[in-house]
Amino acid sequence: MIILAIESSCDETAASISRDGREILSDVVYSQADMHALYGGVVPEIASRKHIEKISLVVEEAIAKAGIKKSEIGAVAATCAPGLIGALLVGANFAKAAALALGVPFIPVHHIRGHISANYIAFPELKPPFIALVASGGHTIIVDVEDYTKMTLVGTTRDDAAGEAFDKIARVQGLPYPGGKILDELSQTGESGYYKLPQAAIKDHPYDFSFSGLKTAAINIIHNAQQKGEEINKHHMAKAVSETVADTIVPRVLLAAKNLGRDTVVAAGGVAANSLLRARLEAGAKKQGIKLFVPPLRLCGDNGSMIACQAYYEYMAGNTSDPAQNCFATMAVSDSFFEDR
Ligand code: KG4
Ligand code: ZN
Repeated sequence: MIILAIESSCDETAASISRDGREILSDVVYSQADMHALYGGVVPEIASRKHIEKISLVVEEAIAKAGIKKSEIGAVAATCAPGLIGALLVGANFAKAAALALGVPFIPVHHIRGHISANYIAFPELKPPFIALVASGGHTIIVDVEDYTKMTLVGTTRDDAAGEAFDKIARVQGLPYPGGKILDELSQTGESGYYKLPQAAIKDHPYDFSFSGLKTAAINIIHNAQQKGEEINKHHMAKAVSETVADTIVPRVLLAAKNLGRDTVVAAGGVAANSLLRARLEAGAKKQGIKLFVPPLRLCGDNGSMIACQAYYEYMAGNTSDPAQNCFATMAVSDSFFEDR
């Protein structure tokens, strides 16, 4: 089964062709990040317009690189939630029109399920059930993945996502968007314990996160220094932020695996590219006898392959849609696009 999939939920216009889910025949990503960097963050209106400009080219390139004929495409998929609504609509409408023109089914895909699916591409032996940590610019959640299309939310952030904290803390220091990767690099030569940042815990909710206190505390330290004309040590600050994020996330994920009786943990999303988070997850999983899967860096950020892979499992579960399929800015990972069926 060959699937053409489109991802346009944020600032990447991406298309990919998969065969039977896990075999990726092509993967094309056009990133708008440089453009949004001028404004210090994603500007939704600009994101939608850039998707419109690039989508046809990106899809044509994905088909050409896969070396397939359009007539071989068995279904067309697109991210339909969650994300920037204008951005989602561009990819979904293009995909629906393509499905109509080719006379094949349309498959709506949940972006977070796609991130989890990136692991199926990287690790052929990986099968549910497992616990997934998805940490991105907009989400930090722990999910119990019972099956490819059946999942339960175990924990979530009460306020900001980890990626949002990274990006804002980078931004107030004048570092370019997206700041997570830059803070990761700076932290390599940072000193532990130089800056102290708070780690929040939510009473009676052992799997939930909060990153707004960390974000505010770091921004206050930076602003105070700026007001006094002092220099912040960017390396030490990056280390403190990375350590606090990792120390908040890792124990909760491992606790969820232990309490839910899962022997496997997977990580996903842009923040899963963070080197300290990866290292601490690895150390913690090893200690607890947990199998850990963390995708290669190229599959952590937004891409079309993860959507093309998840689309296959949605298709196998009968989750195909019709031309009336809408997009949604928010949607729980456990929810189906077909609630009323
Ligand atoms: O999953 P993603 O590409 O897009 C969303 O769906 O949000 O995640 C983007 C987020 C951004 O906040 C970015 O700063 C963060 O992932 N990120 C990182 C790293 N690489 C990307 N955060 C920390 N360390 C990194 N190495
Ligand atoms: Zn994402």
